Amino acid sequence: MWQGRRVVLGVTGGIAAYKCVLLARELTRQGAEVDVVLSRGAAEFVGPVTFEAVTRRPVRSSLWERDGALDHVALGQRADLVVVAPATAHLMARAAAGLADDLLTSMLLASTAPVLLAPAMNDEMFANPATQANLATLLSRGWRVVGPGVGALAEGPSDRAGRMAEPDEILAHAARAVRVPGPLAGRRVIVTAGPTREPIDPVRVLTNRSSGKMGYRLAAGAWQRGAVVTLISGPSSEREPTGVALTRVDTTAQMAAAVRERIAGGDVLIMAAAPADYRPASPRDAKLPRSEGGFALELVPTDDILLATARDRPPDLTAVGFALETGNAIEKGRAKLHRKQLDMIVVNDALDPGAGFDVDTNAVTILDRHGAVTPVSLRSKAAVAEAILDAIEQFRA
Ligand code: CTP
Repeated sequence: MWQGRRVVLGVTGGIAAYKCVLLARELTRQGAEVDVVLSRGAAEFVGPVTFEAVTRRPVRSSLWERDGALDHVALGQRADLVVVAPATAHLMARAAAGLADDLLTSMLLASTAPVLLAPAMNDEMFANPATQANLATLLSRGWRVVGPGVGALAEGPSDRAGRMAEPDEILAHAARAVRVPGPLAGRRVIVTAGPTREPIDPVRVLTNRSSGKMGYRLAAGAWQRGAVVTLISGPSSEREPTGVALTRVDTTAQMAAAVRERIAGGDVLIMAAAPADYRPASPRDAKLPRSEGGFALELVPTDDILLATARDRPPDLTAVGFALETGNAIEKGRAKLHRKQLDMIVVNDALDPGAGFDVDTNAVTILDRHGAVTPVSLRSKAAVAEAILDAIEQFRA
């Protein structure tokens, strides 16, 4: 996604400047060309050499550098995105007023690229009506803002906003800012992820090996494409994706209820979850003591969520299912596509090396109800999610 993109990273004077080294490094690692512009204050916190080392590009900090006479125009004009992180109250005030008294503010004034700010300051400074008015002005000009969040500030703990958003959150917002809006922009996407678990007794459950990785990557990817995303997740240790509304559930019945509740307003449903297909017929109220010895567990099938919600689907909803098979995957996937009344199905063969549960990679084949077959070779689950979202966009185009 970042390959070949040009990002100007403006860094102003706040303690959080050190975190932006990680941001510059990650953008560079993902293929972006990152030009760092430091304000005078920023250079007091992190030196240019550090940023030069991670971006492998010269760092600018002044309007008056040799050979840099037109940098303030050129840098911003060739950028795909300008990120200012941390953005101090002072930078926001100067930008709102249209001042051009250093390289960073001049560059901002001369640029037509999207701008993303990550404010960081004392909580009183952020709450101050002057800062809020400047923020409102910048938002009204189409600038984007991520954070600030609540949490520890340099001066101690705080329960009010002021702390800069974390680098991975800034990165997710940056990705959403540079994307050209496509068919998923503004659409409501519901994604399910992870396993579900069914109680045997109050301490024991029946579950499966699903990690939730594929569903979480799909939710993050759909949000980056501008969608309004709801993620309904069974137990998973994946981190909550930026921007996504997360609902946690435990059992297949709870997942079915959560899907049913949201489906009426949905444009796309992606059932990436691996809900438990069986549950104990009569879960015990008290812990089963080991001293009782062996026992047989009677299992009954759970609801098939896709089938159970088929009637509730709005007519123009794109329903996407998954099928994890062991052998004859395409054939079985095609049968499932029709049985579950789907528009598309993503087929996995668990026997393929590197594909399936609890790994970071996947290889799939995407089938749609018109007969299109799209093989997606082995790659990271984030890249597979991109291919699936591309296919959904094409299907809806
Ligand atoms: N699915 C569902 N409700 C369930 C089980 C699965 O909606 N109780 C969904 C999955 O999220 C997936 C699709 O159905 O999108 C196919 O899941 P899979 O487990 O492969 O299918 P099953 O219906 O369980 O078929 P089988 O066990 O016969 O292979």
